[in-house]
Amino acid sequence: MPRPPIRIEAHRLTKRFGTVEAVTDLTFTAAPGTVTGFLGPNGAGKTTTLRMLLGLVRPTSGTATIGGLRYAELPDPPGTVGALLDSAHLHPARTGRDHLRVYGAMAGCDGRRIEELIAMLDLGPFVDRPARGYSTGMRRRVGLATALLPDPPVLVLDEPGNGLDPRGIAWLRTLLRSLAAEGRTVLVSSHVLGETQQLVDDVVIIDSGRLVAQGPVAELTRDGTDLEQLFLHATGGHTTGGHRERGHI
Ligand SMILES: Nc1ncnc2c1ncn2[C@@H]1O[C@H](COP(=O)(O)OP(=O)(O)OP(=O)(O)O)[C@@H](O)[C@H]1O
Ligand SMILES: [Mg+2]
Repeated sequence: MPRPPIRIEAHRLTKRFGTVEAVTDLTFTAAPGTVTGFLGPNGAGKTTTLRMLLGLVRPTSGTATIGGLRYAELPDPPGTVGALLDSAHLHPARTGRDHLRVYGAMAGCDGRRIEELIAMLDLGPFVDRPARGYSTGMRRRVGLATALLPDPPVLVLDEPGNGLDPRGIAWLRTLLRSLAAEGRTVLVSSHVLGETQQLVDDVVIIDSGRLVAQGPVAELTRDGTDLEQLFLHATGGHTTGGHRERGHI
């Protein structure tokens, strides 16, 4: 099924929270048909950037667009962009299937789509149990299914690998690749650089809100370095993220 190619673009994106510069002058693109990893240590500004992209945080300056439009300007925002931010807010007494039915009704999905996602995301073993008993990985899977309900051409996923075991990570890799192979634009954040190397085609690496490196993984790691080494080299060897405090004038 042909999909409209939709590019994600951040242009000179900047966000300050008081004296904290969460994101500074960040420019990058995520292309259709590709899984783009958005990487950086804790506090680097990944979630803030994704929230700006989804219209949840207003940029201090610069733009974040999807197919050239701000999220709120899209003709059908939820049908265009499937988002996974924090763990899905699952009602503890509801089952995963009920959760998908409620959100599916809002997205105009039929029962068949829900069954399709239950199979695709391997929710079968727990989807009829109340969500209060779900593990982190189970919540992540239901959250992903929720993001995929309207079969959106763009996916923005904040740390989808969190809480997944090695088998889950391998499964996620296959899932993201097949979603991108169908022409979708997939932007996926992670603070685990090494693990993500095998999950993505392109990377955008940030530290302290600023771009550190950008490009196809195959090109950036051509000389045998892995992304973690690349990051350490580019940032002068420190491993913990921080933020820039603006000096008082
Ligand atoms: N609402 C807010 N108010 C004040 N500071 C904020 C706010 N949101 C984020 N920050 C700060 O912005 C910086 C970037 O945070 P952000 O959550 O974007 O990082 P992250 O890369 O997603 O980190 P993690 O890997 O831990 O999820 C941090 O210094 C954080 O404390
Ligand atoms: Mg985050």
